[in-house]
Amino acid sequence: MTDAALPQRLAGKTVLLIVGGGIAAYKTLPLIRLLRAEGCSVSTILTKAGSAFVTPLSLQALTEQPVHMDLLSLTEESMMGHIQLSRAADLLVIAPATADLLARMSAGMADDLAATVLLATDKPVLAAPAMNVRMWQHQATQANIDTLTARGLTLVGPEEGPMACHEYGPGRMAEPETIRDAILSLLVPSSVSSNVPSSADTVPQDLRGHHALVTSGPTHEPLDPVRYLANRSSGRQGHAIAAALARRGARVTLVSGPVSIPDPQGVTTIHVETGRQMMAACESALPADIAVCVAAVADWHVEAAEQKLKKTGGTPHLTLLPNPDILATLSAPGPRRPALVIGFAAETEAVHQHARDKRLRKGCDWLLANDVSPNTGIMGGVDNAIRLITADGEEDWPRTSKTEVADHLAARIAAFMNAS
Ligand code: C5P
Repeated sequence: MTDAALPQRLAGKTVLLIVGGGIAAYKTLPLIRLLRAEGCSVSTILTKAGSAFVTPLSLQALTEQPVHMDLLSLTEESMMGHIQLSRAADLLVIAPATADLLARMSAGMADDLAATVLLATDKPVLAAPAMNVRMWQHQATQANIDTLTARGLTLVGPEEGPMACHEYGPGRMAEPETIRDAILSLLVPSSVSSNVPSSADTVPQDLRGHHALVTSGPTHEPLDPVRYLANRSSGRQGHAIAAALARRGARVTLVSGPVSIPDPQGVTTIHVETGRQMMAACESALPADIAVCVAAVADWHVEAAEQKLKKTGGTPHLTLLPNPDILATLSAPGPRRPALVIGFAAETEAVHQHARDKRLRKGCDWLLANDVSPNTGIMGGVDNAIRLITADGEEDWPRTSKTEVADHLAARIAAFMNAS
């Protein structure tokens, strides 16, 4: 079954694959083939819902191992059957990770074999979510994702695209090759170049050996348990920059506020909600050689009420308290200051003058200015138009996609890092 002609980068590794119930379950069959071709041993747990989409026989034939479905029969075999399953694995992979399975995992339930193993394991877990776009974007799912990623769960995908339910958006399960690459980056980090898109072959690996810290997205500042202050940042530009730096070989830590776009490939993404959490996550990600602050961090937070604010209590009076300035903090001189600190200035008037002032005020090295007046469609959109402001001068980049802006910036960063 294994193909000795391939590099066998996962030789000696064991993955426990948990197949949840979703139309994307069919993609686990080619995933198993890809993993076996890398020399990986794959054992499987098939949930009851999963068995409506793929048969135990298919999984058994491809893995050449028995398929585990029943908590009780495992217990019969050995009281510790489920513990042994996870003990024998180097990594647990949930594909497809359904909204239901993620919710049960977040709640710490143990109502079937999959949930029990996930609760009992001390091994790293990678989840490939797959669900309808509205289910993915629902606050309940996003809260579960926040909880699970804070506990150490790694996500691959979901990807954006047309879905089986005739809707479009994030929710499609990552492709088998993408999941295989995420597994490689977790189990064999030295093979990380395989964790970036195939275009990596043509992208110079001139940021290899550098650690880049990127912030992205908005922050949510709670007013009470159900309301928050936020802004319209989509995270597209910051995520694209994180991905572009990873494509050039950098080790990238992305600290992201709440966004509805998937985590970029080849990047360690830390999910946070508030500006203060983002500051703390950045500080714990240091040291870094490069910092790119793209996040639209709320300037203020309020002392959140413990209970939902009531209209009957009169119009609430909100006292705004300043948030930490992450860019200014990272730019401050000191032993942990990254060699290159880059900020953004999203302005709606006197864009360039404000941006020049901002670079000096924050103490960063480069500042990328963009006009986010509503008529430009830049905030939340897919394009961007940039003026790069450095101590040495200024240059305008023509309006182009946020991905191309990211690639251009990554190339400039690589040139700077390799010259200095
Ligand atoms: O002050 P202003 O929000 O306009 O500055 C924008 C730049 O500063 C961006 O690079 C943004 O990521 C960063 N910033 C930050 N922390 C804040 C506010 C802004 O890192 N609290």
